[in-house]
Amino acid sequence: MRNLSTAELQPASRINLLFGENGSGKTSLLESIHLLGLGRSFRTQQYRQLIQSGQEELLVFAQVDPFNKGESRPLGVTRAREGELRVRYAGESIGAAELASLMPLLVINSDTFALLEGSPSVRRQFIDWGGFHADPGFIRLWRGFHRVLKQRNSLLKCGKIDARVRALWDAELVAFAQPLTELRSAYVEALVPVFEEILGELLKDVQVQLRFSPGWDAKRDLAQVLEENFERDLRQGFSSSGPQRADLRFRVEGQDAAERLSRGQKKLVVSALKLAQGALFHRQSQRACIYLIDDLPSELDERHCRQFCQFLEKSANQCFITCVDPGLLSRVWEETTDLALFRVDQGTISQSAAPGE
Ligand SMILES: Nc1ncnc2c1ncn2[C@@H]1O[C@H](COP(=O)(O)OP(=O)(O)O)[C@@H](O)[C@H]1O
Ligand SMILES: [Mg+2]
Repeated sequence: MRNLSTAELQPASRINLLFGENGSGKTSLLESIHLLGLGRSFRTQQYRQLIQSGQEELLVFAQVDPFNKGESRPLGVTRAREGELRVRYAGESIGAAELASLMPLLVINSDTFALLEGSPSVRRQFIDWGGFHADPGFIRLWRGFHRVLKQRNSLLKCGKIDARVRALWDAELVAFAQPLTELRSAYVEALVPVFEEILGELLKDVQVQLRFSPGWDAKRDLAQVLEENFERDLRQGFSSSGPQRADLRFRVEGQDAAERLSRGQKKLVVSALKLAQGALFHRQSQRACIYLIDDLPSELDERHCRQFCQFLEKSANQCFITCVDPGLLSRVWEETTDLALFRVDQGTISQSAAPGE
């Protein structure tokens, strides 16, 4: 994969530090773990870019113990040039959704700023990660809703809709939208106190208000809103209200957080969001997440960097953290923490002695 021809590592159960120069392959290594957990990259949707130049396919293989049973099982993911995905776990073929529930992964990198600065779809994905892992029925509702929405939108685009047909589609849309929104809203409600607590540790003195908006005026019945907006939807050719417009709002002292906070503060806020997801997941399922944190020190001063690491250290997750210079990051951990250091150099990975050894 990318510049990693064959690379192997024996990760520590808790903290794995990957360091190396620009272009050495650190992000590619995180990308390969992401591929193992989700079957796709966080950098590109074009698999030819991932597959090493001159090769036909890529393979990521690991021994994993996703349910903490004390017994590892083989997991292998391959992607061909045409993009075909094959996943085998414990000797059987599994699909992408099954893989995702097996390997709860969370990424913190420069794209994570999009939680504050990006489009609502990024924030919906964030909520839906939680919904998916918190409730086994979530995926059925999500898929059902999007299937019906697509039908409704293509009807709107053709322009002529019989009133009875429309009523049927709207009823079906609401039948998915309502429970989907309840799960999303319950997830955000459970997440908020965890987020506030973690943010309090990472970034003192800044209070961020987080509010869920379901995609229409929450005080009103969606069926009625659809009815009222119908003429407009028909003119525009798409559905203007519903869960497809759900969002999260972040405010600091009444101002939009994206406008108000500094770059470093934003990094801590979006990191706290991701860390809160992992903490809530752990509370709900007694399972840990895998964190892929690309260039942890970037944008952070030494004190905030330490606080970030201290939080990671006391959580239950397995972390893969990259940085250019291992300096501070190799020294912040307690002796009892299961820690491994890896040097990445031109596509090769070698384990490096922990400081003091
Ligand atoms: N498909 C590919 N085949 C071979 N090399 C690649 C491919 N895609 C990217 N690379 C190279 O892999 C190297 C590693 O990049 P990256 O993992 O982003 O480095 P780092 O995160 O350590 O700065 C880069 O030099 C890049 O040019
Ligand atoms: Mg990188």
